Amino acid sequence: MPVKLKRVVSIANQKGGVGKTTTAINMAAAIARNGHKVLVVDLDPQGNASTGLGISPDDREFTAYDVLVDGVDIQKAIVETNVKNLSIVTSNTDLSSADAELMNDKGRLIRLRNSLEGIRHFDYIFIDCPPSLNLLTINAFAASDSVLVPLQSEFYALEGLSQLILTVREVREALGTELFIDGVVLTMFDRRVKLAQQVEIDVRDNLKSLVYKTIIPRTVRLSEAPSYGETILEYDALGRGAEAYIALGDEFLKRDKKKQK
Ligand SMILES: Nc1ncnc2c1ncn2[C@@H]1O[C@H](COP(=O)(O)OP(=O)(O)O)[C@@H](O)[C@H]1O
Ligand SMILES: [Mg+2]
Repeated sequence: MPVKLKRVVSIANQKGGVGKTTTAINMAAAIARNGHKVLVVDLDPQGNASTGLGISPDDREFTAYDVLVDGVDIQKAIVETNVKNLSIVTSNTDLSSADAELMNDKGRLIRLRNSLEGIRHFDYIFIDCPPSLNLLTINAFAASDSVLVPLQSEFYALEGLSQLILTVREVREALGTELFIDGVVLTMFDRRVKLAQQVEIDVRDNLKSLVYKTIIPRTVRLSEAPSYGETILEYDALGRGAEAYIALGDEFLKRDKKKQK
């Protein structure tokens, strides 16, 4: 059997509150449920992915900050979650000073890439990016094979996307990688709202096959789950949110399979 290569995917959008973290943890859980070994890297100083996956601040002995800034071996920062096959590198507010602290470091763009290089035992690594195109996000891009962009189903959904695409291109060219945008996923979609349907039409018109078929509905369950430290697959296994993230995970794997061929 050929050795399966690990895939590293940034979940990014410089806008806050568009569903990055919700997508990172729930899609990761859905893919882990398929038997793949999955790692989430929380690269947002807010630490929402860490909390959402049930790792309380006291249990974050080594975080993404220690790995990025102090060069701590990433293996030490990997903790298992309650979800089978799903681990995380946590973060906390320490990470907010990483940008400034790395300013004079020559290799500052590829610190995460170097850390992830040695990791062998994961099939998929999802990096939950902060709401900014800062050094942390650049580190995520530099370490990634692809970028997945959650778009909130609202009027200004596409705003900022060209800047993000430009950043992807700059990273690819500066570092000689093959980074690409794997896709765009519509989140917080409310079928009853006419505007949301119009947004979907516009986004699909503009971005064509880049847009995932799967749409994540707006459901209060998805927003409640993190406060219990549970993914939607545990919190509301049979609900619409779980159904959508399972479908998104399947669609992601299907696209990925095509690309690995
Ligand atoms: N599909 C959804 N339905 C309802 N609430 C959602 C949904 N997706 C995300 N949320 C909530 O919206 C807020 C922002 O989502 P989040 O994933 O944290 O965005 P980001 O990481 O891009 O800042 C959070 O409170 C989250 O629980
Ligand atoms: Mg977030």
